[in-house]
Amino acid sequence: MKNFISLLPKVELHLHIEGTLEPELMLQLAQRNNIDIPFNSIEEVKNAYNFSNLQSFLDIYYQGANVLIHQQDFFDLTWAYLLRCKQDNVLHTEIFFDPQTHTARGISFDTVINGIHRALEQAKVELGISSQLIMCFLRHLDEQSAFETLAQAQPHQDKIIAVGLDSSELGNPAGKFERVFKQAISQGFLTVAHAGEEGPASSIHEALELLQISRIDHGVRCVDDPELVEQLIKARTPLTVCPLSNLKLKVFAQMEQHNIVELLRKGLCVTINSDDPSYFGGYMTDNFLAVTNAHEVSKAEAAQFTFNAIEASFISDSEKERLNTATQNYLQLHQ
Ligand code: ADE
Ligand code: ZN
Repeated sequence: MKNFISLLPKVELHLHIEGTLEPELMLQLAQRNNIDIPFNSIEEVKNAYNFSNLQSFLDIYYQGANVLIHQQDFFDLTWAYLLRCKQDNVLHTEIFFDPQTHTARGISFDTVINGIHRALEQAKVELGISSQLIMCFLRHLDEQSAFETLAQAQPHQDKIIAVGLDSSELGNPAGKFERVFKQAISQGFLTVAHAGEEGPASSIHEALELLQISRIDHGVRCVDDPELVEQLIKARTPLTVCPLSNLKLKVFAQMEQHNIVELLRKGLCVTINSDDPSYFGGYMTDNFLAVTNAHEVSKAEAAQFTFNAIEASFISDSEKERLNTATQNYLQLHQ
């Protein structure tokens, strides 16, 4: 199974580029940019990655992002992630970035997106990996700041497929961003949102109704509302689930208790993703293996996570067909 999973074609739909900052690169960029960080070694950084909940992670995650200053830093960050994608046979990835984390520190929107975009373009040519970019609003900040961010994105609309919503879910309901999402939709952006990670099933309802989202990021708390589960099955609303993240942030105490396989067998369009792999202990293959080691999963079921991700992705039908064929051929050859 390990070999099968390693080489299985994969599509990632829930990945924060700032969450791929490995301790090595963090220390390197701190030195290169003369930024003070409270760590002197890789071990010290890793020891700080001990989280009790989402907020305890976010505090460290925003601190880590302080070392990203120049366009080249954003390129290096993104390129390192794409090389990991190649290792894990990720054929397509849809990447979140958090502009406000950087613009609040005086880094321009253009610096951030141009660095990321240059790496994505290079990966298309040199690694054969396709991608899309999703711009997230930080939900702990106010509506005004989100509107300003949307305005800054305007000259780059050709590089951004969708807007999303991340950061602290508790106390920051989706409704706070209803108007900014409406405007984004009117400008042609698709929408997604983190919901039902720490928050209750009702927050998933709210995000679906008020933000008109195409996918739910996380969404694992949907099981608390059987009617909602039925609705998600019927509509084939995708859930971008992040198993190792959920374990590290104590959404589930053990992988054996994770509900992703149960959701898959109920017929939900669930997918496997890595969220913030540097902080949570693994990229795509690691997340697949964490699930298949803790649960009895057939090869066809493991491949179904990829078929679901292809279905849920923001790519053309012909691209979906190409990825489906590659995955079907792989499954047939390795059954
Ligand atoms: N930002 C980065 N990772 C996140 C997560 N898992 N939930 C909410 N916001 C995030
Ligand atoms: Zn996330």
